[in-house]
Amino acid sequence: MKRLLSVTAGSILLMAVFAVPAFAQDAAPITPHEIEGKEACSMCHSGAMEGMPAAPASHEGWADESCQTCHAEGSLGQTGTAAATPHEIEGKEACSMCHSGAMEGMPAAPASHEGLKDKNCVMCHAPKA
Ligand code: HEC
Ligand code: HEC
Ligand code: HEC
Ligand code: HEC
Repeated sequence: MKRLLSVTAGSILLMAVFAVPAFAQDAAPITPHEIEGKEACSMCHSGAMEGMPAAPASHEGWADESCQTCHAEGSLGQTGTAAATPHEIEGKEACSMCHSGAMEGMPAAPASHEGLKDKNCVMCHAPKA
């Protein structure tokens, strides 16, 4: 209960001060169990199964392949701070077209990003409000 309260208070404070979703600021807990045989993360973490920690509402619609980019030890989500997206998302959904390093004058995503999908970019690079 105490943890829940502090998370809620923190989220409200962050929204008020930075106007970004709380998940971009709070630390993601490291997955404490084996992944093998448990690839269907959402089956257990959607809140539908009793006794399983439910993923927060911010996670709505996120794909199972993306979970470990933040929850694995040493993952991008654990080790770095992602800059907010400074521009509109609408009409620019093909993030990699501009951020792969192929286009001159566009900031290139680092090598650690190899294989990340465009639909997942804003999970970490939340748009500036
Ligand atoms: C068969 C059910 C099941 C599946 C599938 C599963 N988990 Fe879990 N997960 C659990 C349980 C139960 C816990 C509670 C801690 C424990 O018993 O290991 C947990 C704990 C966690 C936690 C820690 C939550 C906290 O509050 O600290 C994270 C993060 C997590 N799992 C991520 C994942 C990811 C990522 C996947 C998919 C790659 C996944 N889980 C798949 C059952 C599952
Ligand atoms: C962009 C990074 C990111 C991705 C991707 C991500 N998470 Fe999380 N997750 C977080 C952060 C940060 C928290 C802790 C802050 C919060 O509760 O919002 C968290 C919290 C959790 C918790 C713990 C909730 C609790 O109250 O202890 C579970 C379970 C979880 N995530 C499961 C998942 C699953 C399953 C997926 C894939 C469908 C996933 N996460 C994808 C960042 C991420
Ligand atoms: C048409 C090209 C284009 C597309 C598509 C595009 N961007 Fe950008 N992005 C830019 C440019 C140019 C900048 C440099 C800052 C500016 O001018 O807004 C930038 C800056 C950024 C930055 C800041 C980088 C830094 O160095 O601080 C992030 C993060 C970012 N974009 C994320 C995204 C995400 C996420 C998407 C997809 C949803 C996306 N971008 C799609 C052109 C693009
Ligand atoms: C799991 C979180 C995560 C996801 C998903 C993610 N990024 Fe990043 N990104 C980061 C972090 C953290 C950094 C900071 C550099 C580092 O630590 O590698 C970064 C750096 C960048 C930079 C360089 C900005 C700078 O300040 O140097 C760009 C551009 C970028 N990402 C674009 C993207 C694009 C495009 C996608 C989707 C294909 C994407 N990112 C997906 C976490 C993420």
